[in-house]
Amino acid sequence: MSKSIAGFSKLSKSKKIDWIVDTYFSNANDAKHVLKQYWNTNEKLQQLHDEFIENTITNYYLPLGVAPNFLINDKLYTIPMAIEESSVVAAASKSAKFWLDRGGFKTKVLSTTKIGQVHFIYKGDFEKLKQFFNNVKVKLIQESSRITKNMENRGGGIIDIELRNKTADITDYYQLHASFETLDAMGANFINSCLEQFAKTLKNEALKFDLFSEIEKQIEIIMSILSNYVPDCLVRAEVSCKVDDLSENDSISGEALANKFVQAVNIAKVEPYRAVTHNKGIMNGIDAVILATGNDFRAVEAGVHAYASRNGRYSSLTHAKIKDGIFTFWMEIPLALGTVGGLTGLHPLVKLALEMLGKPSAKDLMQIVAVAGLAQNFAALRSLTTTGIQQGHMKMHLKNILNQFEANDYEKQALTEHFKTNTVTHSAVIEAINKLRVASEE
Ligand code: MEV
Repeated sequence: MSKSIAGFSKLSKSKKIDWIVDTYFSNANDAKHVLKQYWNTNEKLQQLHDEFIENTITNYYLPLGVAPNFLINDKLYTIPMAIEESSVVAAASKSAKFWLDRGGFKTKVLSTTKIGQVHFIYKGDFEKLKQFFNNVKVKLIQESSRITKNMENRGGGIIDIELRNKTADITDYYQLHASFETLDAMGANFINSCLEQFAKTLKNEALKFDLFSEIEKQIEIIMSILSNYVPDCLVRAEVSCKVDDLSENDSISGEALANKFVQAVNIAKVEPYRAVTHNKGIMNGIDAVILATGNDFRAVEAGVHAYASRNGRYSSLTHAKIKDGIFTFWMEIPLALGTVGGLTGLHPLVKLALEMLGKPSAKDLMQIVAVAGLAQNFAALRSLTTTGIQQGHMKMHLKNILNQFEANDYEKQALTEHFKTNTVTHSAVIEAINKLRVASEE
C-alpha cells in the first residue's frame, strides 16, 4: 500500500525521487535510471524546465514535428507540431501540399475580445444595484489603471464592464461581465488582475453607497476569473477549389468526393456522437500547434467545445458546400492565444517554433492554428470517405510496433515493404517480425 508524505514539495529533487522510487517501484534503481535518462545534461536548461512546475522529477518528451508547404493568405509557412499521435503530422503535411496546388488557405481574424467575470451575491433591490454600478463604473476602471496602463499604451485594455442580473438562475447572484482586448498576450494574468481589482473596488464602494441598506452594503464576492469561453475571439479559415480538382486519382470523381465530403460534414452537424470525433480530429491539429507555441491547450479545448455547443446541440466546427461547381470547406473557431508572455519567452523550443513561424502576432497565430485544424479535418474526412482511416493510421502504427520490437534497419525496410501489400494488424506485424528473424537465423 502506498503511504502519504508531509512536506514533499520542500524536499530536494533527488530526495523526491528517492521517495518515489522507494515507495512505488520494486526495482528502485531501474526506475531511477528511467527518470534520469530524460534529464538534460545542460544544467541551466534542466533547471529552467524544473521550475516551470512544482515537484518536477524529470522531463516528459513529446516529438516536435513540422508540416511544411502551408500557404496561408499567399504566404508559405512550415508549421511546428508537438504531438504523440503518429498520423497527425503526416496528415497535416498531406493537406498542406494538396491545398498548396489549389490556391492555399484563406484566413481572417473576425474578433479578438476576451471575457472575465466577477461573480457576486447582493441581497437587495436590483434598481439600487444598477444605480450603484452606474456610479462606480468609472472608479472600477480608474482603480485598475496601474494594471491596465501598459496594455492601454499598446492599444488594448478594458473594453467595457456590464452589470448582469443572474437571479433567475441563482438567488441574489449578479456579475460584473467585463470585456478586454489583450493584443499579443493571451491575457489570463492581465484579465484576472483587473477582475480582482474590480472586486475590491466593488466591495469597498458598496460599503460607502448611501442608498444601500446595511444588508445591501454587504456585497459578497464569490470569485473573479477570466472565461475560457471566447465566442468573440474568432478566426475563420477556408479552402476552396473547383469540384473537379478535388480528386487526385481515377478511383473517385471530384464530384463524388465533394458530395461525400459535404455529407460527412452534415452528419457531424446533426449527430453529436460523430461531431465529437470529427472535432477531435480538428483538435489534433490545433493542440499540436498550441503546444509547440507554448499556449494553453486546455483553455483552447474548453472554449472550442463550448463553442461547438453554442446552439444547444454539440455540432461540427467545420462546414462544407458545393455551389456553382466550387467546393468550399471552412471553419470559424474561437482561439484565445498569446505570442508574448507565459512560456513564449522562456521555453527554448517555443521560441524556436515562433521564430519558424516568422514571429507571429497573436492574430497571425490564430490564423495559423485555425489552418492546422482545418487541414487536419480535411485529411481525416478525405481518408474516411475514401480509403478509410485505418490504411494511413496502420502505416504509421507499423513504425511504432517495429520500434517496440526493436527492429533493426534491415527488418524495418523489409517489413515496410511487406506491409505495402498486406494489412497491418498488431499480430500480423509480430508474426512477420518473428518469421523474418527465424529466417535470418537459418
Ligand atoms: C483520430 O485521432 C481522429 C479521427 O478520428 C478524426 C475523425 O474521425 O474525423 C480520424
